[in-house]
Amino acid sequence: MIEIRNLTKIYPATGSSPMVRALDQVNLTIKTGDIFGIIGLSGAGKSTLIRCINLLERPTEGEILVDGLDVAKLNAHDLRAFRSRFGMVFQDYNLFMQRTVARNIAFPLEIAGVPAAQRAARVTELLELIGLSDKANAYPAQLSGGQKQRVSIARALATHPEFLLCDEPTSALDSLTTTSILNLLSDINQKLGVSIIIITHETSVVRRICRHMAVLSENRILETGAVSDLVANPQSALTRQLLKLEQTVAEDAADAFDALDAFEAEVHAYE
Ligand SMILES: Nc1ncnc2c1ncn2[C@@H]1O[C@H](COP(=O)(O)OP(=O)(O)OP(=O)(O)O)[C@@H](O)[C@H]1O
Ligand SMILES: [Mg+2]
Repeated sequence: MIEIRNLTKIYPATGSSPMVRALDQVNLTIKTGDIFGIIGLSGAGKSTLIRCINLLERPTEGEILVDGLDVAKLNAHDLRAFRSRFGMVFQDYNLFMQRTVARNIAFPLEIAGVPAAQRAARVTELLELIGLSDKANAYPAQLSGGQKQRVSIARALATHPEFLLCDEPTSALDSLTTTSILNLLSDINQKLGVSIIIITHETSVVRRICRHMAVLSENRILETGAVSDLVANPQSALTRQLLKLEQTVAEDAADAFDALDAFEAEVHAYE
């Protein structure tokens, strides 16, 4: 289980750029075995949040506990072992263009010092999992976007991580390819028991594979819970908008009255 408590991340000012409070007092619990979606507008802090979870970014304040372990207290040696519990997948694949598919997948195993024979066996297994056994010796430039993302997922899984952190993994793919990648992620979750945290701006991704989700807005959690609950009973207009839920005319009117009430309250405060 990942417990995030009062997490604040500030990027300090540099040169001409002012400091940015990318996350502000974020609280979130992600259960082991879940597929957890994070949605929010651009700049809300989604990537920062998942980068803090595996300590690619150091939190400014707050705690992150992974199975009760306070990650801030890890020393350099433990940090390496800790990071190997996470695999990461990105929108633009981040494959090594000079390496074949097999050698891309083998890369984390090389870093971890796994002997060649074991590496080869693991790569064969992963190529089967992603359905690309015939592409072992191809180069990334010879693959479609969907195939590249499969290779990137295989590479992320090479060292048997417990968590897969996916930052907009299907945003560059067409809808059919998106479906095949979502099916693969679903299989990985169910068959291998890997917990998945997935950032997306596509409502279909959340609604098709996530069991729980959080909505981030301007560096804070707006709401979090079971996807079915948020779809059935969204607490905010942003959630409704991001999940592309139909808003009834009555709700439109209610929102307009709420806005008017808020405006009047503000005017009264001035008087
Ligand atoms: N390394 C960095 N240094 C300084 N500021 C940063 C850095 N990374 C992100 N930010 C800022 O932090 C805020 C949150 O950025 P983040 O990348 O987490 O947002 P996001 O929700 O992932 O957005 P998008 O949907 O566009 O990917 C933004 O204002 C961004 O400019
Ligand atoms: Mg991002």
